[in-house]
Amino acid sequence: MVYQLGLIGYPIKHSLSPWIHKQFLEEANIQGNYSIFEVREDDLTELVQTIKEKRITGFNVTLPYKQKIIPLLDELDPSAKHIGAVNTVLNKDGRLIGYNTDGIGYLRSLEQSYPDLSNNKQVNILIIGAGGAARGIYNALHQAGYSSITIANRTIEKAKEIAQHSKSAITLDQAEENIATFDLIIQTTNVGMKPNQADSPIRIDGMKSSTIVSDIIYQPILTTLLREAKKKGAQIHQGHSMLLYQAQYAFEIWFGITPSLGNMNSQLKRILEG
Ligand code: ATR
Repeated sequence: MVYQLGLIGYPIKHSLSPWIHKQFLEEANIQGNYSIFEVREDDLTELVQTIKEKRITGFNVTLPYKQKIIPLLDELDPSAKHIGAVNTVLNKDGRLIGYNTDGIGYLRSLEQSYPDLSNNKQVNILIIGAGGAARGIYNALHQAGYSSITIANRTIEKAKEIAQHSKSAITLDQAEENIATFDLIIQTTNVGMKPNQADSPIRIDGMKSSTIVSDIIYQPILTTLLREAKKKGAQIHQGHSMLLYQAQYAFEIWFGITPSLGNMNSQLKRILEG
């Protein structure tokens, strides 16, 4: 049997997902294709119907359809329901089930790079941003037992919506003032993304050098925030590895197999560095 997978979004010509999933298919010894479904919003409903009828095994969803796809699905996994966005769909006997693999993918990538963290769940964590990505990461960390998570956002109300206790929601200025208290800083906004790579959402002047600084942006692969963190002697965690682990978890949802990443992390790094 040749399994059919794909990606829905617009525009998606430069997506790295086909490259990642083709490697996973090969690694897992599964015959399959990963297609690009670049559709305009007007054609989204029809495409999803066709996918359902053709019994395509599963697909990924990217911008701008992570929310718009939801009414077209039959069921949502709790992760997708909580985050309010879907990036992976499983076609289970003609029923489309939506998942969000970002949070778990992020956590796996972080704990893979910093295994000691999983034995030290009291670390003081700062999440910068309160959008969909932040919500997914917050949930994954919280469910994994990390007990001290603060969310800083430009719009504090949005941070309060995610944080369990309102005192865990702060402004970006407050985060800067208290930067020395955090052991792990996770940047989830789009500030610093190409073509505005000189930007950074926060100043980290007073940060401890033992802090781990993580940025989910992978274009550029070394953001201004990460460069500053490196200068301060901090350890860094780059965004491209989240991309690999969220795809690995999607593959697991489709096939029940966890593909090994082999040397994909360094290969992807080279691709992104151009
Ligand atoms: P995603 O789903 O990728 O997380 P999103 O839901 O649009 O994207 O969220 C974007 C995040 O980036 C938000 O936290 C947003 O802050 P606001 O809630 O105040 O809008 C943050 N963000 C975007 N542009 C920003 C900027 N120029 N400065 C600070 N934060 C910014």
